[in-house]
Amino acid sequence: MVRFGRMRARALAGMAALAVTVLGAALLRPAPVAADPTTVDASILDQAGDRLFPEGKHIYQANCAACHDQGVGRAPQFTILRYMSPEAIHRALTTGVMRQQAAALTEDQKVQVAQFLSSRKLAPVTAPVPLAMCSGKAATFDRSEPPVFAGWGLDLAGTHTIPSAVGGLSPANVGKLKLKWSFGFAGSERMRSQPSLAGGAIFLGSHTGDVFALDRATGCVRWHFQAAAEVRTAVVIAPWQVGDAGAAPLAYFGDVRGVLYALDAFTGALKWKVTADEHPAAVITAAPSLYQGTLFVPVSSLEEASATAPGYKCCTFRGSVLALDAATGAVKWRSWMVPEPKPLAGSSNGDEHFGPSGAAVWNSPAIDALRGQLTIDTGDNYTHPVTDYGDAILALDLATGAVRWHYQATKGDAWNVACMVAGNTNCPEDAGPDFDFGAGTILARDRAGKDIVLAGQKSSFVYALDPASGKLLWQTRLGRGGAAGGVNFGMAAMDGAVFAPVSDMFTGVPSEVPGRPGVHALDIATGKELWYTRVGPDCDAAPRTCVAGTSGSLSATNGMVMVGADDGRVLILDAKDGRTLWSFDTAQPLQTVNGVPAHGGSISGGVAPIAYKGELIVASGYAFGAKKAGNALLVFGTE
Ligand code: HEC
Repeated sequence: MVRFGRMRARALAGMAALAVTVLGAALLRPAPVAADPTTVDASILDQAGDRLFPEGKHIYQANCAACHDQGVGRAPQFTILRYMSPEAIHRALTTGVMRQQAAALTEDQKVQVAQFLSSRKLAPVTAPVPLAMCSGKAATFDRSEPPVFAGWGLDLAGTHTIPSAVGGLSPANVGKLKLKWSFGFAGSERMRSQPSLAGGAIFLGSHTGDVFALDRATGCVRWHFQAAAEVRTAVVIAPWQVGDAGAAPLAYFGDVRGVLYALDAFTGALKWKVTADEHPAAVITAAPSLYQGTLFVPVSSLEEASATAPGYKCCTFRGSVLALDAATGAVKWRSWMVPEPKPLAGSSNGDEHFGPSGAAVWNSPAIDALRGQLTIDTGDNYTHPVTDYGDAILALDLATGAVRWHYQATKGDAWNVACMVAGNTNCPEDAGPDFDFGAGTILARDRAGKDIVLAGQKSSFVYALDPASGKLLWQTRLGRGGAAGGVNFGMAAMDGAVFAPVSDMFTGVPSEVPGRPGVHALDIATGKELWYTRVGPDCDAAPRTCVAGTSGSLSATNGMVMVGADDGRVLILDAKDGRTLWSFDTAQPLQTVNGVPAHGGSISGGVAPIAYKGELIVASGYAFGAKKAGNALLVFGTE
């Protein structure tokens, strides 16, 4: 069995009497530190499922663990199953791909195992809230409104800036913003899919894998699509010409099982789907970037968490960027971030390890059309040997995927979640600090018109590189940083300044630098700090339970910065000095247009507030460690 990758998986599948594997999560002590938002979900460390549904756990161990703890074949690993809704798991066991494997289970046992895996009660089948479908004009897509933004980064360069005329918000009118309507997502506890806009609709995915196109004026449902698992990415809509009666644009997104979907943007009908990576822990966290008929798909994984399962043969996932023909899903190229993993020395004693591994890509590529390249940044290596493209910023050739340059910000960072479990042999020796890059790169411009690539890291450093050579121009430390600190999901650049949201949540690792959670503004040309606005309470007294900082993404428009905070507020700051111009606490019960009980919570993940025609659109809720769960989309208006 000293093989690697899928070979090993097949060998395992043949072993009929594989001993029941004890779940890693069950052995975990109470989480010593809150887990890292980009690589590790704190919910993995949460034992609610064990506690609430102990019978389901026994059923899982006896009937499922042999395949799912090891990712046999393409079986999603335990850590991935934990992101599925109980409804989706139950569906897989009754009418889906697992009906054969679950044939010997009673209906009650299926329910128990589904509830154990998702740590949630299955919604009663009898009383689903019916979808509030649109009718008449509200149901029709407006062909005079092609996609308002290019994708998750809002423009190809990933600046997260909204032109003033498009956003319609200004320091003079934001004081008038009032909640117009909100929409509740049944069964969801986090909202990681940044809303996108086209044809008079708001498109977004959800925790339960429900993907919606909602009428922007009223929140009624134009179409609904059920993905197999959680959708964390924004939905990217292909552009069309104004008034083109024959336009048939596609809508693209990925799920946490690593599947990329293409739907008809006007009907929600599935056109094609591809598995972006056969690895059983592969995940699509960030939206693909769409440019001239090619989709550039970033591939990440949850294998860092799989590593906590005792006996898990860690680790074989390799980060990559995949280029697909946007019309058909055909693969054009793939660029791997690490070479093929091999068994490591000492592997023959049954305690197998593999490497190199990791360097996941957690962010949407920024497109540099002028230089014919895209830029991304990467996470850490999961195991030794460490490689050059871990915790690095890279430029890839748009046509071939070849790496043109790379800048490695942190060397020698081999880490996985086993390092948080005492005595777990899957933690690499000399484990690194887990300084992933999660946030997308930006091809920004300074005031003199010079292009500069910007990247923000969990270390709390922001880096500026020359886009032609990858040479470091400056680096600035914003705060304490850490496994869950620093910059997590996305920055914005406008008018010669870069705005960085900083989480700096407590990690228990001593640091001589104090936490500086909130929003930081730097001069793009020099890296000098322009201002810093602290967001959230001072958490020094109760660091494990107190929530401060901004771990999500932010956007900029018309002299303002718009950001969602981990305490649940959405804030609009003056881009000149960081002064708060307007704020609203979304962490409260909301009256929804679709009748689903909802409330907001922490605003994080890839979600940045979006301004359009004088409205402000934000998805709220982020169940994650001490952060606040929520299941709402909120639309504010100035009229
Ligand atoms: C013999 C190995 C094996 C056993 C036993 C097994 N599974 Fe699976 N499971 C797989 C494989 C392989 C897949 C992937 C199938 C695919 O992608 O087509 C999978 C997929 C799934 C999925 C994802 C379905 C989807 O629609 O995305 C769920 C949920 C699941 N299994 C749950 C379970 C549960 C719960 C049990 C125990 C009752 C179980 N499985 C037992 C191998 C197994």
